[in-house]
Amino acid sequence: MATSSSPTFGGPPSPLEKANLELEKYITMKIMVVGGGGREHAIIKKIKENKSVEKIYALPGNGGIAADAECVDIGAKDIERIVDFAVANGIDYAVVAPDDPLVLGCVDALEEKGIPCFGPRANAAIIEGSKVFSKNLMKKYGIPTAAYEVFDDMEAALKYLESAPIPTVIKADGLALGKGVIIATTLDEAKQAVISMMQDKQFGSSGDHIVIEEFLSGPEVSVLAFTDGKVVKPMVSSMDHKRAGDNDTGLNTGGMGTVAPNPYYTADIAKECMETIFKPTVDAMNKESRTFKGCLYFGLMLTENGPKVIEYNCRFGDPETQVVLPLLESDLLTVMQATTNGTLAETEVKFGDGHACCVIMASAGYPQSYEKGFEMTIPEDIAPDVYVAGAKTADGKLLTNGGRVLGVTSVCDSLEEAIKASYAKVEKIHFDNKYYRHDIGKRALAAK
Ligand code: AMP
Ligand code: GLY
Repeated sequence: MATSSSPTFGGPPSPLEKANLELEKYITMKIMVVGGGGREHAIIKKIKENKSVEKIYALPGNGGIAADAECVDIGAKDIERIVDFAVANGIDYAVVAPDDPLVLGCVDALEEKGIPCFGPRANAAIIEGSKVFSKNLMKKYGIPTAAYEVFDDMEAALKYLESAPIPTVIKADGLALGKGVIIATTLDEAKQAVISMMQDKQFGSSGDHIVIEEFLSGPEVSVLAFTDGKVVKPMVSSMDHKRAGDNDTGLNTGGMGTVAPNPYYTADIAKECMETIFKPTVDAMNKESRTFKGCLYFGLMLTENGPKVIEYNCRFGDPETQVVLPLLESDLLTVMQATTNGTLAETEVKFGDGHACCVIMASAGYPQSYEKGFEMTIPEDIAPDVYVAGAKTADGKLLTNGGRVLGVTSVCDSLEEAIKASYAKVEKIHFDNKYYRHDIGKRALAAK
């Protein structure tokens, strides 16, 4: 870490201060962030605030991230090349942000070469990588979640559905780009979902095993938490908006906007979650010899019978990160390193009292088919609040290059102001075919 060494008031620096200034020049770190979406952009912007960071590489990053880090054309799933790059470039610390490389063992491979990392090893990332694993873990350790059955035989699953309560929820076991969950409101729909997962292999081998679970209702809350495997320090809560259309209509997406904190998540509920969900999960992973270090994401539903886990993710959420990190007052890199070193208990993780709102600007047609390659204009004064998810540069121009194009965040004293400020910024950002929801935060406002 850089030492503090401001010169003595009114005089020249003392010998000690001079030595500290000299030292600061040498305490520099090269950081590598694996991934290339809005979440990674938010992580990079926050890490940059640490004065001992000399250089940040993004693998692969994107055209917008290029303003804040050096983008390297290596895909986030190309573990071998990621490791080679890290070794060749003397990376001091790596942040592996997306689910795929974590589940594939990117952290294990980097650690083998002596490179410290933020993120869980593969044997712990399975908490997201396999829904069968996470459901069985919760059952074994009494962590509240929806009742469920696991099937690896299609006929048995179809037979079970005949007497299952409807609506019912059908989940493919493995990673499926957030699309492997079907909420079936009729028996026919439920059967069709099972057939498309298990017979038609809609999600490839992710559908070899499926979970059929009880339909729960209640407000949803995302809680991201830092953990070093010993203590767990939750971040400020947030609320995602998963559906594509206003008023929660249309298809499920990767997330169309977020607000933080989530008004449904009261101090009492937070306390209950710590005792019944957060600590028991970290302890359970230790008991299974799968110590989890990094960011553990709890997707919760606040049901009439108390908070229950809908899903675990082994990483920061997207776009939750784009509202959570702007509210973080502590130094992100220091906290990340504490999760790696096992010193999180002694490390401050402090959030401000403000409210944040992030509106995602997407390409019209997302999450299905959409056009890309349109020039984007982002006014300079807004750029610090923009997290670019899908863009590339060509001939010095920034062009849209994805379904979700960017997120715009504002932090204000009230949620109302934050929403207003973000939509004012959205109005100033231009690209053809832009699409966004107009009601991000509306539900949260109504809950207050
Ligand atoms: P997941 O990919 O597991 O986050 O699921 C996607 C969305 O499906 C969640 O955000 C919930 O809105 C919904 N969902 C998942 N499981 C259930 C459940 N058991 N009951 C009701 N809704 C659910
Ligand atoms: N926003 C949900 C996720 O990151 O999975």
